[in-house]
Amino acid sequence: MGVKLGILGLGTVGAGTVKLLQDRTGRHPLLQEIEIYRVGVRSLNRPRAVELSAGVLTTDLEAIVSDPEVDIVVEVMGGLEPARSLILKAISNGKHIVTANKAAIARFGAEIFTAANQAGVYVMLEAAVGGGIPVIQPLKQSLSVNRIHAVTGIVNGTTNYILTRMQTEGSNFSDVLADAQRLGYAEADPTADVDGLDAGDKIAILASLAFGGRIHLEDVYCEGIRQVSKTDIAYAEKLGFVIKLLAVAKRQTSDNSQLSVRVHPTLVPQTHPLASINGVYNAILVEGEPIGQVMFFGPGAGAGPTASAVSSDILNLVATLKTSTAGLNPLLACGHHHYCQIAPIAELVTRFYARFLTKDQSGVIGKLGTCFGNYGVSLESVVQTGFQGELAEIVVVTHDVREGDFRQALAEIHTLEAIDSIPSLLRVL
Ligand SMILES: NC(=O)c1ccc[n+]([C@@H]2O[C@H](COP(=O)([O-])OP(=O)(O)OC[C@H]3O[C@@H](n4cnc5c(N)ncnc54)[C@H](OP(=O)(O)O)[C@@H]3O)[C@@H](O)[C@H]2O)c1
Repeated sequence: MGVKLGILGLGTVGAGTVKLLQDRTGRHPLLQEIEIYRVGVRSLNRPRAVELSAGVLTTDLEAIVSDPEVDIVVEVMGGLEPARSLILKAISNGKHIVTANKAAIARFGAEIFTAANQAGVYVMLEAAVGGGIPVIQPLKQSLSVNRIHAVTGIVNGTTNYILTRMQTEGSNFSDVLADAQRLGYAEADPTADVDGLDAGDKIAILASLAFGGRIHLEDVYCEGIRQVSKTDIAYAEKLGFVIKLLAVAKRQTSDNSQLSVRVHPTLVPQTHPLASINGVYNAILVEGEPIGQVMFFGPGAGAGPTASAVSSDILNLVATLKTSTAGLNPLLACGHHHYCQIAPIAELVTRFYARFLTKDQSGVIGKLGTCFGNYGVSLESVVQTGFQGELAEIVVVTHDVREGDFRQALAEIHTLEAIDSIPSLLRVL
């Protein structure tokens, strides 16, 4: 007998997945075993991109997750509720789950995976990070023998698109955002993307897989791209960098007891593999021992790419259901029970780029140097000086420094009479 799917949602991802599963020629033969049994939506009257057999479409999502005939529930409706409750209900009814919902997994992952382990079912989430890019399964399986040091990603296509256009056109953030909204690359409410929250959800998931522990989402430091200016992009370029919104999960301490998990705009050296990832594309660089560096690159969103990820999870489950005897396969199930210790951002050791506007230039650089010296901040370069109207502009790049010390130095610099403002402060990879 075939494996019956109950799909929650028939929007971009749901319709893409149905389309892929209906068109099986040239794809894996196991797809023949899959039956699209029920599809739950909000409105039956909306025009749909795919055709379904009579009786498949329903607005009763509760009935799908309770139906004894359904083997796998595919949650592609999005949002926190009722997605969370429906996933939990499906699990309690013994259904395996495939989800693309990073927001729900990043917030309720502990609850969902605990319930799944108790019920002896799998929760698969390849589409939740990086759209069509296979990165979840590689972290769980192919790379799991490595000791992972760092996962660094461009995992939000909207912000990468905006930063790429700011870079190539020399445009302002607000102008490019407005145009991206008009073209459908950014949501009407862009907060989750431009403030780094979506990337925060994704790096929490990747960190959990890479470092084998749960992550409290509130420990993930998130800073978005609203304050990135075309001036900084131009200075960065002259200095040999591009500005990217990076999501980083890294071992912070040599004894491995603490992680650094964060999202922020970052000056990336032009020679770094992530520097050339442009437009809506995503990429995730994994560094580990003994493998070294491995990078995953591809389309981070869209109906087809995301359907590829969702369907690969479904196929994995179909194969497992056909072969497994007793117990969960530990390479597919979640085996984490403890929470990772995440260091506060003040403990981060990194290089910084800072831009200062000063009232007069004579002696200011010396005063800046003295303040920095008081807190052990050494300067790699005082790189550029220019003018913004009456004000002189000074750009510095520091050597590695503890963020807390750097911020103390900045607080002192703020009190200097000659300093008008510090418009930009960015971390350097
Ligand atoms: N779009 C992408 O490229 C992409 C990429 C990766 C991951 N994801 C994730 O995939 C998920 C789905 O995204 P999407 O872009 O496909 O969303 P979408 O186009 O807005 O589709 C959502 C679907 O869910 C249904 N739905 C939502 N709330 C419902 C409710 N309360 N009751 C019944 N049906 C409900 C909607 O029904 P109606 O059609 O009747 O309104 C619609 O069919 C999200 O978690 C998203 O983060 C999306």
